[in-house]
Amino acid sequence: MAATGGVRTACVTGGNGYIASALVKMLLQRGYAVKTTVRNPDDREKNAHLMELQALGPLEILRADLDDEGSFEDAVAGCDYAFLVAAPVNLTSEDPERDQIEPSVRGTLNVMRSCARAGTVRRVVLTSAASSVCIRPLEGDGHVLDEESWSDLEWVAAEKPPSWGYVVSKVLSEKAALRFAQEHGMSLAIACPVLTVGASPVPKVYTSVPASLSLISGDEAALAMLKGIEKSFGGVPVVDLDDLCRAEVFLAEAEAASGRYICSSFDTTVVEIAQFLADKYPQYSVNIGSGELLEKPRVRLSSAKLVKQGFEFRCKTLDEVYQGVVEYGKALGILPY
Ligand SMILES: NC(=O)c1ccc[n+]([C@@H]2O[C@H](COP(=O)([O-])OP(=O)(O)OC[C@H]3O[C@@H](n4cnc5c(N)ncnc54)[C@H](OP(=O)(O)O)[C@@H]3O)[C@@H](O)[C@H]2O)c1
Repeated sequence: MAATGGVRTACVTGGNGYIASALVKMLLQRGYAVKTTVRNPDDREKNAHLMELQALGPLEILRADLDDEGSFEDAVAGCDYAFLVAAPVNLTSEDPERDQIEPSVRGTLNVMRSCARAGTVRRVVLTSAASSVCIRPLEGDGHVLDEESWSDLEWVAAEKPPSWGYVVSKVLSEKAALRFAQEHGMSLAIACPVLTVGASPVPKVYTSVPASLSLISGDEAALAMLKGIEKSFGGVPVVDLDDLCRAEVFLAEAEAASGRYICSSFDTTVVEIAQFLADKYPQYSVNIGSGELLEKPRVRLSSAKLVKQGFEFRCKTLDEVYQGVVEYGKALGILPY
C-alpha cells in the first residue's frame, strides 16, 4: 500500500553507511516516513545512531542483504521512492571481480527487481560514483566532463589504476540499472557523487572523511587515497555531504529527473586543500608527503545538468565544505582533541 495522508515514504538501503545515514536524517527532517535496511539490525554498535534518528520521525530498520535475492521486498513495499545507497566498497580487494564488481551489479539488480515488484515506487535514485565518468586517458589540461562521459573500461582493464574494480563496478551497475529501468518502465535517476565531505550521523567512516582530513591526520593510507583521486581524476572534485543528500532528494522529487547526474560542487587539488588547511587550522601541521601533484585541476566534472534542472549547491568553497569536518574528525578519533 502506498503512503497515505500526504506522508511520503522512502526506502534508503544501507542505512548505517556514511551517506545513507545522513540521507535518512534529512528525509526524516523533511517529514518523510523512512524504511531503511541494514545487514544486521541486531548489531547495536553499528545501528545505535539510526535508533537515535528514530526520535526525528517514523523510521523502520529492516534486515536486507544485497547478496540475498528478494531480501529488500519488505523494505521497498509501499514506498514512493527508493534510494539505493548500499553497495560493496572493497577498494583494496585482491579479487575485485568477486568482491566488488559482481556483487555490485547483482545487488543493484536485486533491489531494482524488488522495486519493480512493489508497484508503488515512483522513482529509484541510485547512488553511483563519479568514478564511472572520468577514469579514461585524457592528455593535457582544460577537460570538462559531463554525464555523456563514461570511464573507459578497456583502458581501466589494461592499466589497472588504483581501485580499478570499483570503477568497473560503478560503470556496469549503472548500465545494468539503466537497462533494467528501460525494460520495466521504471523511473531512474543516478547520482554520481565525487569525494563527499561532511559530518554524518555515523560514528565510523572509512573512505572520504579520512581522505579529506589525511593532510592533517597523518594517516598515510588515507593520504595515498586522496592523491590517488587527484591522479586518476585529474583533480580533486568535492561535494558537501549535505548538498549531496539534498541533490538525492531533489532527484527523487523533481518530475523531470532522469538518467545520470554528476554531483560535484567544485574541483580542487591536494595542494590547494593543504594550503587551505594550513591557513585555517594552524594548530595542525600539514604533511603533504612526496610525489608529483597538480597545480590546478586538469579535468573538471560538470554538474550543469543538475543545476539547469533547478538544484543549487550551497557549499561552493573549501571553507564551506570543511565546516564541522574537523570537529567530526575529532569525534571519529581521526584527529586528536
Ligand atoms: N563517500 C564518498 O565520498 C563517495 C563518493 C562517491 C560515491 N560514493 C558511493 O556512495 C555509496 C555509499 O558510500 P558511503 O561512503 O556511504 O560508504 P559506506 O559508509 O561504506 O556505506 C556502504 C553501505 O553499504 C552497505 N553494504 C555493503 N555491502 C552490502 C551488502 N552485501 N548488502 C547490504 N548492504 C551492504 C554497508 O553495510 P555494512 O555496514 O553492513 O557493511 C554500508 O551501510 C557507495 O555506493 C559509494 O560507492 C561514496
